[in-house]
Amino acid sequence: MTDDQLKQEILRLKSEKNAVILGHYYQRHEIQELSDYVGDSLALAQKAQEATADIIVFCGVHFMAETAKILNPSRKVLLPDMEASCSLAESCKADEFAAFKAEHPDHMVISYVNCSAEIKALSDLICTSGNAEKLVRSLPEEQKIIFAPDRNLGGYINRVTGRNMVLWNGVCTVHDAMQAEGILKLKAEHPDAPVIAHPECNAALLQVADFIGSTKAMLNYIQQSPAHQIIVATETGILYEMRRLCPDKEFLTLHDDKSCACDDCAYMKLNTLEKLYRCLRDEQPEILMSAEMIEAAKRPIVRMLDMSRELGIIK
Ligand code: 13P
Ligand code: SF4
Repeated sequence: MTDDQLKQEILRLKSEKNAVILGHYYQRHEIQELSDYVGDSLALAQKAQEATADIIVFCGVHFMAETAKILNPSRKVLLPDMEASCSLAESCKADEFAAFKAEHPDHMVISYVNCSAEIKALSDLICTSGNAEKLVRSLPEEQKIIFAPDRNLGGYINRVTGRNMVLWNGVCTVHDAMQAEGILKLKAEHPDAPVIAHPECNAALLQVADFIGSTKAMLNYIQQSPAHQIIVATETGILYEMRRLCPDKEFLTLHDDKSCACDDCAYMKLNTLEKLYRCLRDEQPEILMSAEMIEAAKRPIVRMLDMSRELGIIK
């Protein structure tokens, strides 16, 4: 089938089966185009919770689809490629994390949503890059905290809040590989271009950034910025939405020198039109979880959503 035929079939199956397609900003542009809703992890979790369609097709990575299932277990949740994992989720295995947690008995556990359901079940509160700073600031200063699994996001939150959270040593291999030197080179060539970065980037890179935020926050920034050129330190999938929102602006990335694909997330890119079509047609691969695991993992996610509403981060 050609891409156009695949797109038509996907739309036909979607309406025939009363399905909704949720897509992350790092998905391939043709998938973002077909999605009913495109968002960051926080907005997508909220959309999944509110979804009334019979089927949720999650075009993102496994932990995102799993979160959708946890929040809306009566729906059938599909992920076009079950191999679409995340280096952060992979870095944090439940048995090792349980031992780490036991070493810090008086600590509350905050986990970044980029982790497995097993880790969520071991956590007191979940956060995303879109709410982490505000959630942490809202907790009593004397509260001791373990932050997992992203040491870059956790380190960033420690620096901006003055906290001393104990960090699990995980990274997003895509963002961690982006180097400040490359960004400084781009900045020297384009001195008027501000640098925007995702907080999963390493500390040296974040130090040279003018703005740090989630995918959604970066999209808000580019629309408000008067700059004509903007240097972007995050996964390249977001450029599709950036160019759609601001067609007159130029977005510069480390990727531009074509010497590497270091700012592509191989996991995110596993989902293709063909796999999306087959997944809707066959209603699999499906996210299946035990009721016990759903219940245990749901508690800290719902707490995150409730706190985010109370703090005015989401509606
Ligand atoms: P956002 O929540 O900012 O969309 O980030 C998700 C993610 O996986 C970043 O690498
Ligand atoms: Fe995980 Fe990084 Fe890919 Fe996001 S970009 S899904 S954090 S590996």
